[in-house]
Amino acid sequence: MHYSVMLKEAITALNLQHTGTYVDATLGYAGHSGEMLTRVKRGFLFAFDQDINAINYSFEKLNKIGSNFKIIKSNFLYMKEQLEQLGVFKVNGILFDLGVSSPQLDEKNRGFSYLKDARLDMRMDLDSDFSAYELVNTYSEEDLARIIFTYGEEKYAKSIARNIVHERAKKPIETTFELVDIVRRSMPVKKTIDKNPARKTFQAIRIEVNHEIEILEESLRKALDLLDINGRLVVITFHSLEDRITKKLFKEMTEVDPVVKGLPEIPDEYKPKFRLVNQKVITPSDAELKENSRSRSSKLRVIERIR
Ligand SMILES: C[S@@+](CC[C@H](N)C(=O)[O-])C[C@H]1O[C@@H](n2cnc3c(N)ncnc32)[C@H](O)[C@@H]1O
Repeated sequence: MHYSVMLKEAITALNLQHTGTYVDATLGYAGHSGEMLTRVKRGFLFAFDQDINAINYSFEKLNKIGSNFKIIKSNFLYMKEQLEQLGVFKVNGILFDLGVSSPQLDEKNRGFSYLKDARLDMRMDLDSDFSAYELVNTYSEEDLARIIFTYGEEKYAKSIARNIVHERAKKPIETTFELVDIVRRSMPVKKTIDKNPARKTFQAIRIEVNHEIEILEESLRKALDLLDINGRLVVITFHSLEDRITKKLFKEMTEVDPVVKGLPEIPDEYKPKFRLVNQKVITPSDAELKENSRSRSSKLRVIERIR
């Protein structure tokens, strides 16, 4: 079952106008896009995803709502270039709902889930030639430890990395369950009883395989460039690093340029071009948290172009 995180909150935050041009950077299974298209009757929706399965499903879904949309199979890092090629230079709102979708986790052969035995994969873009298999079998012990610690916030990262390198010297590590087994053996037994021990390691490997953190800041900066006056950028994050990058960028964009801070009169070109729509980060309601545990770590931030 697919559940769109903070659907109502995101739609409200976008402040959709029915004649506007909008972008969903992360189409997924079109939960947000469906609501956007329903409200943008005389405008246009561009939707990006790098996952062909998500695109095929969502095309059918959106087609039942309207025809004023175009799906673009691309990494959202190239959104600006892709839109410019289509003659679109300004838009009225952009949504990023980061990370993986629940159907991706559920599709057994994608190798995203530590609960399903599959070949190690975790690519969102099936055309990419770098998967979890290459990562696990080629990265140095230091790099494995760094990634598992940084992106997974996993305390036992060093021991997991050491055991991965030890095991792959005997034979390549091929499946999700082989990796789960290595992770389980890398920590004290009592840590593996209540929760699946591989959750954090799998999250870290997925983030690295898809360069999720590396490309975020540049993607958001380019998206901000595309916003017309009054246009809004809405970002839903699931990881503390993603939220930190978003928060820091939004702060920089909404503050007076430090070069002229303190001057009695700030020249127009140094005034911030954006304002924060909400001072405080938005989090899911208690009702949503009860219905969908995946929304637990989600945070929503909104920024608006004012000049
Ligand atoms: C959390 S899901 C979005 C769910 C969607 N909002 C919905 O309601 O169905 C994230 C989607 O973004 C896609 N995605 C993640 N990073 C991407 C990137 N850098 N470029 C393009 N698509 C990306 C994933 O393939 C996935 O389908």
